[in-house]
Amino acid sequence: MDVVKLKQQAAEYAVQFIQSGMVVGLGHGSTAIFAVRALAARLASGELKDIVGIPCSRQIEAEAHVLGIPLATLEDIPVIDVTIDGADEVDPALNLIKGGGGALLREKIVAQASRREIIVVDGSKLVPVLGTHWAVPVEVVPFGWGSQARYLADLGAEVSVRRNNDGAFVHTDHGNLILDCRFGPLQDPVSLAAQIKARAGIVEHGLFLELANDVIVADASGVRHLTRDSINL
Ligand code: A5P
Repeated sequence: MDVVKLKQQAAEYAVQFIQSGMVVGLGHGSTAIFAVRALAARLASGELKDIVGIPCSRQIEAEAHVLGIPLATLEDIPVIDVTIDGADEVDPALNLIKGGGGALLREKIVAQASRREIIVVDGSKLVPVLGTHWAVPVEVVPFGWGSQARYLADLGAEVSVRRNNDGAFVHTDHGNLILDCRFGPLQDPVSLAAQIKARAGIVEHGLFLELANDVIVADASGVRHLTRDSINL
């Protein structure tokens, strides 16, 4: 089946966990946007009411605004009931690599502020070990970024600065740069995450460890709901 259709199925399945009155984290990316649209449709039909959305990026903020979802910030409301977001890789313990869309900093802030983080993916995102396909995105402040790139290379990564199609550096919603760090399959993501965060100038990384409560996976055989409680950790 078409991968876009699978993304849509996973995202729409997740929207059933949103109830009236909830504060909802709105994830960024081509999968999470289907959840935003489905949420907007349920609000418009009256099936859901009194929803407030906290967007994970300026882009999603703009889309949600157009779709008529009432929005707030974490300054106004510091705790989110449920967030629906995508991921680039999901391992068997439901740890993630995120940040392919460049919104990893806000996504992690939102995930950590969420009582329940629901990740929606098509089946191609499931991997035996993080780093199988994807580099780990690392957000760095522009000042001294070359030094951070060297630090990450010394940790074993092949590092590249993320660029737009026209070759210009990508800047995040916070004006930072993204270094895509290809470590290969990660034997010890917990230690690596700690080493990455130890360096000044590094703002955040795309390893989301023990943050997902649920993963909704859509593939040719249907939609599966994985939870942290149902896996053998
Ligand atoms: C955004 O920064 C990312 O974390 C996305 O959630 C992730 O890249 C998945 O994106 P897609 O849903 O577009 O594959």
